[in-house]
Amino acid sequence: MFDEPAIRRRLDEMAAQISNDYRDRELTVIAILTGSLIFVADLLRRIPLPLKLDCLSVVSYHGKAQTSGEVIFKQVALPDLVGRDVLILDDILDSGHTLAAIREKLQAAKPCSVRVCVLLSKKKQRARHVDADYVEFEIEDEFVVGYGLDFMERYRNLPYIGVLRKELLEQSSR
Ligand code: IMP
Ligand code: MG
Repeated sequence: MFDEPAIRRRLDEMAAQISNDYRDRELTVIAILTGSLIFVADLLRRIPLPLKLDCLSVVSYHGKAQTSGEVIFKQVALPDLVGRDVLILDDILDSGHTLAAIREKLQAAKPCSVRVCVLLSKKKQRARHVDADYVEFEIEDEFVVGYGLDFMERYRNLPYIGVLRKELLEQSSR
């Protein structure tokens, strides 16, 4: 779906946009593990601003290709976000459950602002509405892997983003 040059081109554009939007401020980036790991590493090295980086670990899929709707925070202690400009970085916006829950939780920590940045956003009707402020690519409602995204914890290390073969998806639901 997206090869390495295509990913790099969009990373450059998005990093320039974020750097411009936050030019006189100090960002606090919250990376959502594990899916955003590679995206975050590549994006942040293109943003020449002072920033802090923290990670939050959540589980919502339980190894299946469908969302359970329940979002479990594996990391309980949040960094001090009072008065900070927070940018949440996540791999993909699908049903919206994960990012809606994360956004609510971070908003409760009284930051100055909260924005959401995702590598991918699926064009679909979401269970929960989430506004992503920065989207690297909009995609159709298909299950994709690679560049950090997994299917049952595999394929995260692919350097490109591809659609998972239907046979593999079907095997998992048997
Ligand atoms: P949501 O809560 O349904 O928006 O799902 C968010 C999480 O589900 C993401 O952070 C991913 O870990 C996972 N996910 C959703 N769609 C895909 C996909 O197409 N490929 C791989 N993981 C996905
Ligand atoms: Mg996942």
